[in-house]
Amino acid sequence: MTWHRITHLKAALRQWLGVVEVRFLFLLLAIAVFVVAGCAKSPGASDSSGVVNLGPAEFAKLVADKDVFLIDVHVPEQGHINGTDAFIPYDVIAGNSDKLPADFETPVAVYCRSGSMSAEAAKTLSAMGYKKVFNLVGGKNAFDAMDAIGASPPSGRKVTLMKSASCGCCSEYGAYLERKGFEVERVNLNDMVQVKRKHGIPDNMQSCHTLIVDDYFVEGHVPIEAVSKLLAEHPDVDGIALPGMPMGAPGMTGARSGNFIVYGIKNGIPSEFVRI
Ligand code: CU
Ligand code: CU
Repeated sequence: MTWHRITHLKAALRQWLGVVEVRFLFLLLAIAVFVVAGCAKSPGASDSSGVVNLGPAEFAKLVADKDVFLIDVHVPEQGHINGTDAFIPYDVIAGNSDKLPADFETPVAVYCRSGSMSAEAAKTLSAMGYKKVFNLVGGKNAFDAMDAIGASPPSGRKVTLMKSASCGCCSEYGAYLERKGFEVERVNLNDMVQVKRKHGIPDNMQSCHTLIVDDYFVEGHVPIEAVSKLLAEHPDVDGIALPGMPMGAPGMTGARSGNFIVYGIKNGIPSEFVRI
């Protein structure tokens, strides 16, 4: 091997190494660009993708803003929330794009009666390209129930809780009412059956305790929202009931597994009063 050859080899090696280094640098650069681009992108992506689900109080705050386009998607058509911009049935949203804002950046808020039709409509709107889609969880029912609370604060109102002395969940419900501002008189009775009979509460609507509010009975672990709605609206019923002592209801332990259906009862006949 001559000196010349060795130098030649060294030069070749250096050249080759150089190429590798350059290639390596390119690779590093590409990775860096990729990472930076990825990081920069993610917050925008999380903003624009998916639907924001809101409870009634947050939804009310949102739609108070006039720039928000508010759509009732419930079929059959119901009484709309004040400030509703359009009524489009939830299953024909895509075919009614002419009724929708032209700008996909416009915040769009949807509601139905209980929250299930609007959940579908919200998904459709998001798929159509709207970047800010809001859905009212619990629907107009929840919205109205919240209104009723505002209209009739129960503060200091006297109520009578009829229960059996040994009932633990009855005591819990009494404490719940006091936390909500009622003044609760507790009456322990041996024979609760008589109470139910006197007030015309049908068997399948009965629960452990009976509350008397004004001239109404409130049977079972009824949430305060329904009691407030009753007091605010004074419907033509004998009382309201949440049958079955469901888990997660006020005074009951456990986690709730869905909406509570509170019934209004007139002459022993129940019909749905409110879903909460
Ligand atoms: Cu109970
Ligand atoms: Cu009870």
